[in-house]
Amino acid sequence: MRLCIIGAGYVGLVSGTCFADMGNSVICCDIDNDKIRKLNSGIIPIYEPGLEEMVKRNVKQFRLRFTNNISESIRKSDVIFICVGTPTNKKTNDANLKYVFQVANKIKNNLNKYKIIVTKSTVPVTTGDKIENILNKNKFKTKFDVVSNPEFLREGEAIRDFVVPDRVVVGGKSKKAIKIMKSLYLPIVKKSSRFFSTTRRGAELVKYASNAFLASKISFINEIANLCEILEINIEDISVGMGLDQRIGDRFLRAGPGYGGSCFPKDTRALVALSKKFKINLSIVNSVIKSNENRSNLLLNRILKITKKNLTNKLITFLGVTFKANTDDMRESPCLYLIPKLIKKGAKINYYDPTGIKKNLETFNKVKFSKNIVEATKKSDLIIIHTEWNEFKQLNFKKLIKNKNVIIYDLRNIFTPYKMKINGIKYFGIGR
Ligand code: NAD
Ligand code: UGA
Repeated sequence: MRLCIIGAGYVGLVSGTCFADMGNSVICCDIDNDKIRKLNSGIIPIYEPGLEEMVKRNVKQFRLRFTNNISESIRKSDVIFICVGTPTNKKTNDANLKYVFQVANKIKNNLNKYKIIVTKSTVPVTTGDKIENILNKNKFKTKFDVVSNPEFLREGEAIRDFVVPDRVVVGGKSKKAIKIMKSLYLPIVKKSSRFFSTTRRGAELVKYASNAFLASKISFINEIANLCEILEINIEDISVGMGLDQRIGDRFLRAGPGYGGSCFPKDTRALVALSKKFKINLSIVNSVIKSNENRSNLLLNRILKITKKNLTNKLITFLGVTFKANTDDMRESPCLYLIPKLIKKGAKINYYDPTGIKKNLETFNKVKFSKNIVEATKKSDLIIIHTEWNEFKQLNFKKLIKNKNVIIYDLRNIFTPYKMKINGIKYFGIGR
């Protein structure tokens, strides 16, 4: 099939590349000229394991190309995927649909023959209806179908999640469009995963409900971890003990610094904003948002407790600053909330991240980037393990640490407290 992917970000680039790898002819387009220039020079603008080889392979086979000529790409394609961002609208907490509607108007002006328009971006329920209204005004009077096909991939695992999905959800009322969508996904749904079709609004809500549910699981275990810290119980035992019940499952029960990223925070906010419009009280999701927002205060209090309230001129090293491991994405990373609080208490911050220096942290004058772990931790008073990269899991703190008073605060529980203790290292984790 001839596919056009509009928005070559984390979702668009991965989806486009995977569709090309499945034998389709794919054009990925974006308004960001720099991104397109990089992609055309073989530079992948994001960190996503395995993506570079896959992009190169498909470009070489002429199945994948990149352009900023969106109009032409729409005209030449049969299925158009909208993959632009839907960030939080700061005033209303709702999803900002500016980019989605820009694209819908572009499609309207280039609807030269029957096409399926697919929203892959996470959009509030009824957005598909609004896109349909825009497209109904196309001057060619062309027929079209708008379907919702939410994306469930995770950054860092994006290719695997796309190629071996738990489910592919497509929502729409046109049997023809659903059939075409199913045949597009056939190479991957054939394996073991499931293709689920529903109404368009249903598919839009499945996405938000899924993200809100996963966020709830994380906040739930984080609050139980707070209790474990007081009661001297290891949260890992609780996650394992609970997760063995198949109705609960052990995934997304890892306590940590709070959920971050470009999706859980914005999507939980957007779901609550949507429900408010329809006068429905999503009190559980609302509490999850509040609980997660309060996480940085709890972490600060714990840091003050373990450092005996003395942070003035103390050097704190963050190992990893992205919202989780295996991504370069800083969007709503928990450290962006914790670092300003630590600076306010008089601390200086050093950080190392496997994906390099971060623009978001350049605005703080007490934050410095180190090129490697040795340099980052050399004069440190407190080391905060913020993400669980494999290279952190291998660290030998006994050799690394010169200052014997240094404290390690492991926000991902990647080390065993007992081993740290026998090596004489002051070590604290989450919920244990
Ligand atoms: P992103 O910011 O990485 O990428 C969006 C891209 O769209 C950018 O490159 C931007 O330049 C481009 N764009 C904006 N306006 C455009 C226009 N008018 N025409 C062409 N291109 C335009 O965003 P993302 O993380 O890929 O997320 C995209 C959507 O997918 C969001 O709705 C998000 O909630 C959803 N989603 C994201 C993930 C994820 O892991 N990041 C997973 C599932 C769903
Ligand atoms: C999440 C969902 O997992 C995807 O299914 C979804 O497609 C995506 O959002 C989206 O809609 O954009 P992602 O944000 O890439 O994917 O990352 P996750 O692995 O879900 O982690 C989200 C946050 O929760 C991270 O900050 C992570 O550290 C935290 N987390 C996750 C925990 O604290 N504990 C866990 O057990 C799992």
